Amino acid sequence: MIKSVLLVFAMEAEAQPLIQALGLKEDVPAKIVGPAPCVTFSGEHEGLAVHVVWNGKCKDHGVDNVGTVPASLSTYLAVLAFKPDVVISAGTCGGFKAQGAAIGDVFLGTAVINHDRRIPLPAFDKYGLGHAALLATPHLQAALGLKSGVVSSGNSLDYTDKCMEIMTSHGAALKEMEAAAIAWACALYKVPLMCVKAVTDIVDGDRPTAEEFLENLHSAAAALQTTLPKVLAYLAGKELAAL
Ligand code: ADE
Repeated sequence: MIKSVLLVFAMEAEAQPLIQALGLKEDVPAKIVGPAPCVTFSGEHEGLAVHVVWNGKCKDHGVDNVGTVPASLSTYLAVLAFKPDVVISAGTCGGFKAQGAAIGDVFLGTAVINHDRRIPLPAFDKYGLGHAALLATPHLQAALGLKSGVVSSGNSLDYTDKCMEIMTSHGAALKEMEAAAIAWACALYKVPLMCVKAVTDIVDGDRPTAEEFLENLHSAAAALQTTLPKVLAYLAGKELAAL
């Protein structure tokens, strides 16, 4: 039965609306001590223990620690600290209109891959792709009327032709920078992972990604904030198989 959930966010702007809406409080004293830069918040929603880990800021550049490396560190440490029943990789992403994505949509991930780990050596090729299934949530998806698809992670906001070839050949619906790394850390602990992501920009569209991302970041974070409490309420007290 699901009694506790950990949400992993890369950006403060993605995490703050949920932290405020659920009245989560920063854990003091810190549950994860430095030098790891991540910050955790905890509280309760519909009888569920809710924990948030945000990757924190880069001390050299003053921006959020986005990308796969901080995501795996935060997830590893927060799963160790909170022992959640389920982890949710939450945040924003680019969406493929060819897979039905539109700005502001909230998607559930079905699987993760990496599009920027190209290692053409025996067995390393599959390792690099890192295809991993996410927790199956067909009933939750139907109940909340969400779209679903494959999430592809990489460490760049843009992409090369080769990245695009990998994403399209694996039917990626979403492109972001953390989920596959979070999946790796969750797999070490055998904790099930879900992805709940709101679309800020269209990867196979014609607008510059950075411009579209900045324009839609706050509205997408708000859409995410509307959906996440419903996801948490649905998870509360259920068996994994009932999702
Ligand atoms: N986050 C939001 N949009 C993104 C994109 N197009 N690529 C990677 N991460 C993103």
